[in-house]
Amino acid sequence: FFAGETDFLKGVVAMDGMPMADRMEVCFAGRSNVGKSSLINALTGRKGLARASNTPGRTQEINFFTLTESHYLVDLPGYGFANAPIPIVEKWQRLLKAYLSGRASLRRAFVLIDARHGVKPVDEEIMTLLDKSAVTFQCVLTKTDKVKGGAKDKMLEQVKSKLAKHPASYPEIIMTSSEKGDGIATLRHIIHTLT
Ligand code: GTP
Ligand code: MG
Repeated sequence: FFAGETDFLKGVVAMDGMPMADRMEVCFAGRSNVGKSSLINALTGRKGLARASNTPGRTQEINFFTLTESHYLVDLPGYGFANAPIPIVEKWQRLLKAYLSGRASLRRAFVLIDARHGVKPVDEEIMTLLDKSAVTFQCVLTKTDKVKGGAKDKMLEQVKSKLAKHPASYPEIIMTSSEKGDGIATLRHIIHTLT
């Protein structure tokens, strides 16, 4: 589904630049370098759609993609360490928080967690913000191609126990690899069936 329909709409640097909240949207949040942009590319089947790179802090705007006539996909700047000047990072962190707590059409936030690193304090901070804003969020483990079975299961347990403390969390955790394609169809299905 997605391929051929998805397109970049705009990059936003301030709340007043947001497109009209006239359709539902899902966003991808997570620490810098966790794989947000890569996941959007994998989901849409369009490699260069969202710019991805190995430098943390690659995405510095809130990027809107039109998914279908009824959905937006939103790529967010990362939080945590970023390879950019502090005042700039602070500016996009403020924007990120304003977006996550004040976007009426935000239907679900996918909170991406690196399968090698698990949930960090900055992730919990974002989860708490989503709880307070009553935005349902769902965790997605990324880069599962980089961890072995046993470690993967352990990580899944760690994430589950963290989620138990967050009322806005959706219990199902999705395991993905943008590199290998694992979990991509599942995630597509979830987005597609949100109403
Ligand atoms: P920022 O925009 O800086 O916050 O980063 P991001 O979360 O958008 O991460 P991005 O998609 O740019 O990916 C960061 C790095 O991780 C890139 O070098 C990707 O190639 C790599 N990467 C992303 N997803 C995967 C994956 O599933 N498996 C592996 N092995 N590498 C991945
Ligand atoms: Mg990015």
